[in-house]
Amino acid sequence: MKEENILFAIQGKTVVVTGATGILCGAMAEFLAAQGANVVLVGRNEEKGRQLEAKIQETGGKAVFVAADVMNQGDIERVRDTALETYGTIDILVNGAGGNRPGASTSDTQTFFDLPLDDIGGVLSLNLLGSILPSQILGNVMAEKKEGVIINISSMAAQQPATKVLGYSAAKAGVDNFTRWLAVHMAQEYSPSIRVNAIAPGFFLTQQNHYLLVDKDTGGMTARGQKIIDNTPMGRYGDPEDLLGCLLWLISDGAKFVTGAVIPVDGGFSAYSGV
Ligand SMILES: NC(=O)c1ccc[n+]([C@@H]2O[C@H](COP(=O)([O-])OP(=O)(O)OC[C@H]3O[C@@H](n4cnc5c(N)ncnc54)[C@H](O)[C@@H]3O)[C@@H](O)[C@H]2O)c1
Repeated sequence: MKEENILFAIQGKTVVVTGATGILCGAMAEFLAAQGANVVLVGRNEEKGRQLEAKIQETGGKAVFVAADVMNQGDIERVRDTALETYGTIDILVNGAGGNRPGASTSDTQTFFDLPLDDIGGVLSLNLLGSILPSQILGNVMAEKKEGVIINISSMAAQQPATKVLGYSAAKAGVDNFTRWLAVHMAQEYSPSIRVNAIAPGFFLTQQNHYLLVDKDTGGMTARGQKIIDNTPMGRYGDPEDLLGCLLWLISDGAKFVTGAVIPVDGGFSAYSGV
């Protein structure tokens, strides 16, 4: 094997991917399996999860699906147990489950003053606690063997809050902060070979943001969608495949001195001032 391939090799590594029934993390899971990793698919939708599991297995990949809610301790303990029983260890965790909900966003009919606390709390919990809890339960396996990689999924809304999406912006800011905190904690308290980083995707059209970016009557782009494209120097939404190179780099030895970083994959959105 060529040296550059060894640097980014993940064959035989066991990777747990939460939110694997979604668009971005489904693409990640398929890619990881194609690179020879053992993939533990985590999501709430049993049907979608089983479909992805079968698709990966049909193409010769290794995957097992576990129906689980990332905010439920018992569920995530089952994920850990299944991963250990099936593949013997856990090397990498991708905390992909996340997203927004309309109740935590302002709109023409819902002012900031009307936003239900339950919805704001739900979005904070999913994105932040839904990354912390799996990092505790699965990260503990890494702490015991003094090796591992955790990847969180941040957002452009973390560093510069996006209009309307109050809960989501606050939650993803928390994810950035947690990424840095855990990177330091793992390196100092357990092992410098446990790395924690985040990917901050730009804008990708998926289930959780469809209602903000696509006009439900015309099927065309909303004014917000157009604004995003205008502020993305590359002039387009991302494709899920655009995230895969960054993911592979971060989880492999290619990034073995990288921890506590939040890497934008955004077509230049975060570099552009708008003028
Ligand atoms: N789409 C974008 O433009 C964009 C940009 C930046 C960050 N992100 C982040 O990327 C990640 C993936 O999102 P996506 O855009 O692919 O959305 P998606 O809605 O397609 O996927 C999210 C997945 O998470 C699952 N999920 C939700 N709550 C869950 C829970 N409690 N337990 C287990 N699974 C749960 C959903 O069922 C879904 O399968 C999210 O963290 C999202 O915030 C997306």
